[in-house]
Amino acid sequence: MLTRRLPGTDLDVSVLGFGCWAVGGLWWGDDVRDGDSIEAIRAALAGGVTLFDTAPLYGHGHADAILARALGPDRQRVVLATKVGVEFGGDAATGTDHARSNLAPDRLRADVEASLRRLRTDVIDLLQVHWPCELGTPLAETMQALGELRTEGKVRHIGLCNYDAAGLTEALEHGPVAALQTPLSVLRRDAERTLLPACRAQGVGVIAYEALCRGLITGRFGSIRPGFPDSDLRARDGRFSGSGYVRAAAYVADFAAAARRLDVPPSALALAWVAHRPGVTATLFGAKRAAQVEQNLAAQRVLRGASARAWTLIDAIADRWTGF
Ligand SMILES: NC(=O)c1ccc[n+]([C@@H]2O[C@H](COP(=O)([O-])OP(=O)(O)OC[C@H]3O[C@@H](n4cnc5c(N)ncnc54)[C@H](OP(=O)(O)O)[C@@H]3O)[C@@H](O)[C@H]2O)c1
Repeated sequence: MLTRRLPGTDLDVSVLGFGCWAVGGLWWGDDVRDGDSIEAIRAALAGGVTLFDTAPLYGHGHADAILARALGPDRQRVVLATKVGVEFGGDAATGTDHARSNLAPDRLRADVEASLRRLRTDVIDLLQVHWPCELGTPLAETMQALGELRTEGKVRHIGLCNYDAAGLTEALEHGPVAALQTPLSVLRRDAERTLLPACRAQGVGVIAYEALCRGLITGRFGSIRPGFPDSDLRARDGRFSGSGYVRAAAYVADFAAAARRLDVPPSALALAWVAHRPGVTATLFGAKRAAQVEQNLAAQRVLRGASARAWTLIDAIADRWTGF
């Protein structure tokens, strides 16, 4: 497995990281089984993945519990990334729960203590703010509180998710930021405009998420709009409905043909393309089953073996997508 260093840290991470949102079992349909999830995580480990990304939000802590069970003593040889700052309202049982970002210092501390317990670890390698505060806590206060958690040895490095370039610059005025997590895929490229250049300029690593576009780019859905149960967030995701979906499906078919020429699954080509973007340190993928993990890890073959000419062709295919 290829590894890269998060700039300014002692953390080497696998270029492909396992994302634990789906294995949390909430908002990803009715086919998430803990046994399959554990096998998927073990397959990732066996394939050389050393970056695992989770969050208190994912299954309201269930993803953390599954991750800790699946890793066991192998926790010592991986980089555990999790998040802070989300609180829940409503009712998870009826699916009417909603989450909002509360970055008050006491909230952050409580999140970290609970995460350490669920993850069965003494220290979080990378603690990321899940998204910007919705309750008015100044970023300076948040960064100070995160710095204190670092000083106490509960956290090794601080990261941000879903901040724009201006938010990142403001955060850096108050303390080091090791990584910024942002959506990036062949179907969603806004981060390339200002965020990735800002991260490179300021020596901040980039962890890309949703590189598979929630499964859309894998080609598994075909040309007919997929039906998802209400328990699957993709039932309410505009990219899976209407004329945008029809255009995306045609594009995905082209993309799959390019992947076939390289002898890899479309998911692998999609992950490799993201991992190859300048400034990207690691690319996350979600997976519910070991077979998906194995397909996704074939991205390494592209990253190691594609010639300059092949990359020109891959980039040309990526450039053909004009947006939803
Ligand atoms: N910081 C943030 O705000 C944030 C936000 C989103 C995600 N993330 C992180 O990034 C990770 C990845 O993002 P994501 O899980 O939202 O989306 P994703 O990786 O784009 O899509 C994951 C889904 O794609 C399907 N899939 C995976 N491999 C496949 C394969 N080989 N063939 C066919 N389908 C496949 C699976 O769902 P089905 O089998 O049901 O189709 C899987 O759950 C998350 O788990 C999380 O750790 C962070």
